[in-house]
Amino acid sequence: MDEKQDTGAKIEELRRLIDHHNYRYYALDQPEISDSEYDRLFAELVRLENQNPELITPDSPTQRVGFAPIEKFLPFPHEMPLLSLENATTEKDVLEFETRIRKHLGYNGPIEYVAEPKMDGLAVEMVYQDGIFTGAGTRGDGFTGEDVSVNVRTIRSVPLRLRVESGSSSLPAKIAVRCEVFMDKKDFEAFNETRARANEPLFANPRNAAAGSLRQLDPSVTATRPLRAFFYGVGVLQGAQLETQWETLNALKLWGLPVNPKSKVCRDISEAIDFFNQLAEEREDLPYEIDGMVIKVNRLDWQSELGEKSRSPRWAIAFKFNPDEAQTHVLDINVQVGRTGILTPVAFLNPVLVGGVTVKRATLHNMDEIERKGICIGDAVMVHRAGDVIPEVSEVLKSRRTGEEKPFYMPSACPSCEGEIVRLPDEAFHRCLNRNCPAQVKGSIVHFASRDALNIEGLGDRTVSRFIDEKIISSVPDLYELRIDDLEHLPGFGAKSASNLLDSIEGSKVTTLSRFLYALGISHVGTHMAELLASHFNSLASVRSATLEQLTEITGVGEKVAHAVNSYFANPANRQLIDSLISLGLNIQSTQPLVHAGSSFWMGKTVVFTGGLSSLPRPEAAKAVAAKGARVTDNVSRNTQVVIAGKDPGSKLAKAQKLGVRIMDEDEFTRMLDA
Ligand code: IVH
Repeated sequence: MDEKQDTGAKIEELRRLIDHHNYRYYALDQPEISDSEYDRLFAELVRLENQNPELITPDSPTQRVGFAPIEKFLPFPHEMPLLSLENATTEKDVLEFETRIRKHLGYNGPIEYVAEPKMDGLAVEMVYQDGIFTGAGTRGDGFTGEDVSVNVRTIRSVPLRLRVESGSSSLPAKIAVRCEVFMDKKDFEAFNETRARANEPLFANPRNAAAGSLRQLDPSVTATRPLRAFFYGVGVLQGAQLETQWETLNALKLWGLPVNPKSKVCRDISEAIDFFNQLAEEREDLPYEIDGMVIKVNRLDWQSELGEKSRSPRWAIAFKFNPDEAQTHVLDINVQVGRTGILTPVAFLNPVLVGGVTVKRATLHNMDEIERKGICIGDAVMVHRAGDVIPEVSEVLKSRRTGEEKPFYMPSACPSCEGEIVRLPDEAFHRCLNRNCPAQVKGSIVHFASRDALNIEGLGDRTVSRFIDEKIISSVPDLYELRIDDLEHLPGFGAKSASNLLDSIEGSKVTTLSRFLYALGISHVGTHMAELLASHFNSLASVRSATLEQLTEITGVGEKVAHAVNSYFANPANRQLIDSLISLGLNIQSTQPLVHAGSSFWMGKTVVFTGGLSSLPRPEAAKAVAAKGARVTDNVSRNTQVVIAGKDPGSKLAKAQKLGVRIMDEDEFTRMLDA
């Protein structure tokens, strides 16, 4: 072998290794080597290719970047059209989909389906000839798209040549594969952040960011964008035979094309519906956005027999989630004063259904947010609501403006007490500084009486407002001086409800230290922190006299909390409040924790769930551990102590393994819960 041949073989070996590790990383999500080892291999290949430019081939992993900008996109005809999907929004729609299939096939036996998350990105077709990437095009009108080949080359999860599995049949002579190109939620946020810092316009969502990134005339721009792809189907196929959709997904994966690992075979339509409900629950936790689930008949011969009608196949349907966004109008903007004096602007909306709930109001957070989004009274807006989160205005539809819209200004005086409003230099909020402001007093009494605090039944928002307006109370201690004749004369407040309320107020006098600390409404002290402080100090006297050092020494108590607690108890007004409560008979018991701690294992632990549980729904499981003193969070971090991994766990499991966090499977979890 001469020297050239030797170098050629070395180059080929490096390419094979790099392709292999790309496959492990992107298609299997099971990397075998570290990033730096990978970079070393890559650098070595670049070096050899630079020395021997005549040995460079277009399928080399080094050939992703370096293509010149183009002037415009050329048309990309699809040999087989890219169809679209019919939508289903209810179980009934899905059952009718199956009825139509049965009718068309004239068949009443079992039908298997493949269910795949419906990725919210953009559809792209990629063509491989003899295993080599030869081009890619967007969906366009389904028949002709735009040629985005040079841009697609830069996406690292898209192989430039297909893998040949050892021992398996050879690669198809020609294959057109279909995929969804998308951006992970986290990558999208980081990307938008960089744009914000560079004063560049932001993308509204990951889908727009992915589309905008792929439709760049300069591929070196696309190369900097964190795009990914999941493959789900085949158009033209020459030189290979596939029998089912499931086999197709597996073949794609073996060829090195990433397939969504959440795809699943369902034995019948009801299994597909169950899986849809499971996906709906997991949706928030997935690293990417999905807008539903695609259900496909598994057998490909049945797919061809079913065929298509008006641009969509009869063998597939998109089962969509309730949209979590809807369009409406801002009727007015009001300001609410919270118990800490923070002014929150709130939009009053023309009522609209979002994710199955009627939304009438949306928080606008603060003045910066209003200015950033450019929200005016009268604007047409998109409202977004995710899970239990407070609805938000996500976008103003500026093109729908009529000229009648009015800008919003923060009031210069507090809407509740007409006191002074300030905005501290390092804060995004406006605040009312009057500690006696009725809105603040009201907020702090409602908080004091709330379920996790002193749990005074019958003392909600409306009753407190009324008592304050009627000047029956003006502070928390006043609650404990209420007499039956203060209440009886109030219209609609009979003797019965008056005495019930007085009973619950009386009953609240015996309480725990953690409840009491939470009830005080100290900044940054929620139920979990109150619990932590109570179990550490064990008596009100010791929390009261704790120094900054003593506070920061506690694991889980940061600088911010320590300062807040310390300065709260240093304030004479607060000390006086506590003293008067005690002299009114408040009995704070130190040892009993806020929540019933049947098992000490969960107390104070930070817990994350991933994957589905079979014995109980996840929200129930979360509630159960929370009741035992655990804090349930969404993301795995260094602070996580336990990860409970159910069926089909997501990337959180990998992260937990990496960080060495304790992992429990469902069996162990159920045992620990009962323990
Ligand atoms: S199959 C003939 N599978 O949804 C059926 N589509 O209207 C072709 N999409 O923009 C589509 N994930 O790109 C299929 N697992 C999946 C999908 C999926 C997302 C997109 C597709 C297209 C739209 C279908």
